[in-house]
Amino acid sequence: MLKTFLVGSKSFVLDQEKAEAAFAAKMVINGRQVPYFNILPLKYQWAYDLYKKMKANHWEPEDIPMGKDIEQWRDTAAVSDIERWIIRMGIGYFSAAEGIVGDNIQHVVRELVTAPELKLVLGRHAHEENIHADSLLYMISSLGINPHECEAMFEDIKSIERKNEFVNRASQALRRDLDMKDPANKRLLAKNIFIFGQCMEGTQFYGLFGMVLALYRQNKFPGIGQMFRYTLRDESNHIELFRDLFMDLIEENREIWTDEFKEELRQTMVEAVELEKDFIRDCLPVNAVGLAVDEFVTYIDYIADRRLEGCGLTPLNPGIKNPLPWLAEMMDIKKEQNFFEGRVTEYQKSSALQSASDDEL
Ligand SMILES: [Fe+2]
Ligand SMILES: [Fe+2]
Repeated sequence: MLKTFLVGSKSFVLDQEKAEAAFAAKMVINGRQVPYFNILPLKYQWAYDLYKKMKANHWEPEDIPMGKDIEQWRDTAAVSDIERWIIRMGIGYFSAAEGIVGDNIQHVVRELVTAPELKLVLGRHAHEENIHADSLLYMISSLGINPHECEAMFEDIKSIERKNEFVNRASQALRRDLDMKDPANKRLLAKNIFIFGQCMEGTQFYGLFGMVLALYRQNKFPGIGQMFRYTLRDESNHIELFRDLFMDLIEENREIWTDEFKEELRQTMVEAVELEKDFIRDCLPVNAVGLAVDEFVTYIDYIADRRLEGCGLTPLNPGIKNPLPWLAEMMDIKKEQNFFEGRVTEYQKSSALQSASDDEL
C-alpha cells in the first residue's frame, strides 16, 4: 500500500509494505543491516522497556558517603582481618570483572546483534559496567588501598585468575570476522551470552555479593555495601537482558537448540560453579564473623539452578533450598531509597541540619 503526502508543491510517496518488510527483517543476528539506527518500529519491546528501567536506576558512586567505611578500615578494633580481606577480594575481583563484561558487550555482543533496540539496551548495559568499574576506583581511593595491590590480586590469586580465564576464553573466540549463518558460530555466540549473563554475572558475582552484604547487615562498610546493593540491582537487569537475548536468539535459530548443546551449557555451568566455590573458599578461608562458608557455597548451587531454569535448562540440584533468604531482601531496594530520591532526602537533611544549627545560634 502506497501512501502519498502532499507538502506544499511537493509530494512524497511512502511504501507501507516496504516498511513492514523492514520490520520483519529485524533479527537478533543476521538481520537487515542499514546505516541508520532506527529503533522504531520496536520488534523487541522488552529491550526498550528494560532500557528505560535501567536508566531510571541510575546512580553515581561519588554521591555515596564513605566516611564511616574509612573510619572502620583504619580502626583495627572495629573490623577483623578477615572482614578486611573480604573487602579486598571484592574490590580486587570486581575491578577486573566489570571491565571484562563491558568489553565483551562492546566488542562482541553489540557488534554481532543487528536490531537497533538491542544495541540500545546493550549500550546502557556497557555504561553501567563503567559505573561499576568507577565505583571500585572510588572505593580504592577512599580507603587508600594501593591500586597495584588490586592488579596483583587478579594476577596472583589463582581462583580469580581461573574465573577470568573462563570468561575470557568465551569472549576471545568471537573476536574475528565470523559467518553468523554458520550454526557453529551461532552456538559460540549463544554460549558467550549464556556464560556472561548466567554463569558470570548471574552466578559468579554472587559469592562476593553475599559476603559483602552480610557485612553490611552487621553495619560494617555501609558505603561499600550501599554501592554493592546498587550494583546488584543493576546486575539483576543485566541477567534478565542476557537471558531474554539468549531466548530470542534461540527462538530465531532453533537448529542450534539440540540436546547436545543444552548439555554443553549445563556442563559449562558446572565449571562456573566449581570455580566460584574455590573462589569463595579463598575469600572466606574459615567460618568467621558470623559467616558460614557452607551457606555461601550452597547458595551458589541454588542460584546456578535458578539461572539454568531461566534459560529452559534442567537444574543440577533439583529441590535445593535457598540458605540465604535475606539476600533477596537486600536486592529489593525500596523506592524511597532510590538514588535520586535518596539524594533529595539528604539535601533536605542537610538543610534541616543547617536550620537546626542556626536555631542554636
Ligand atoms: Fe557490573
Ligand atoms: Fe553487569
